[in-house]
Amino acid sequence: MSRVTLLFQSSIGTKLVMAVSGLLLFLFVIAHVSGNLLVFLGPEAANAYAQSLKDLGGLLWVARIGLLVVFIIHIASAVRLWRINKSARPNDYSELESMTTSISAKSMILSGSLVLVFVIYHLLHFTLHITNPEFGSLVDSQGRFDVYKMIVIGFSNVTVSIVYIVAMILLGLHLNHGISSLFQTLGIANYAENTALKKVGSLLAFLISVGFISIPLSVIAGLLKLP
Ligand code: HEM
Repeated sequence: MSRVTLLFQSSIGTKLVMAVSGLLLFLFVIAHVSGNLLVFLGPEAANAYAQSLKDLGGLLWVARIGLLVVFIIHIASAVRLWRINKSARPNDYSELESMTTSISAKSMILSGSLVLVFVIYHLLHFTLHITNPEFGSLVDSQGRFDVYKMIVIGFSNVTVSIVYIVAMILLGLHLNHGISSLFQTLGIANYAENTALKKVGSLLAFLISVGFISIPLSVIAGLLKLP
């Protein structure tokens, strides 16, 4: 068996794959929240942004397929790591360490699984319009898909908004822990720098979560409404 195969079958190799795929998903989430926050600039900015993504054509599909592959790799390595950890028997020295690791690993599996369920619902809601077929016919005065209207109508349903808000809190928790695990796996910097980096990571996770939550909250509060 080659060294590369051995590495990727090992716990550290799997952690590495999870860290890199997690980092890519993290970058997607930053881009997504930034694009979504354009709704606060009004329908023109939001619809023009959505149209500019659609205009990417084939490139958008390459990015979508890439995102899907990264998502699958991230989940597959989480399952693999869980199996490896389950089969590893702790010795006296590592018992305490492995107990704390397994508690945080379990909370990551739980928050990650719930975020996955949310993403599936979110795609059925805003991308495929299966939960709300009427979204498919929303067009603005310039003939573009009216993403602004879809967001406002979508979040006018308080139950839907609550589902999004809870999911975004879970996402924030998942990112917060994920970022510190990432620094640990990649072994970035010394202890002091590592702690500072973790704080930056926690702040970013918090800002991402709050950024997303601000949208359904503003719709419910009547700050974001139809023109
Ligand atoms: C307030 C919160 C959110 C809003 C308003 C929002 C908005 C949108 C919209 C409008 C689309 C459809 C774009 C289109 O097909 O025209 C979309 C797609 C998507 N969203 Fe979100 N989103 C939110 C949160 C999230 C979160 C937290 C995640 C991931 C954890 C996420 C992941 C995705 C993915 C993977 C797609 C599909 C991308 C594509 O097909 O191009 N979204 N979102």
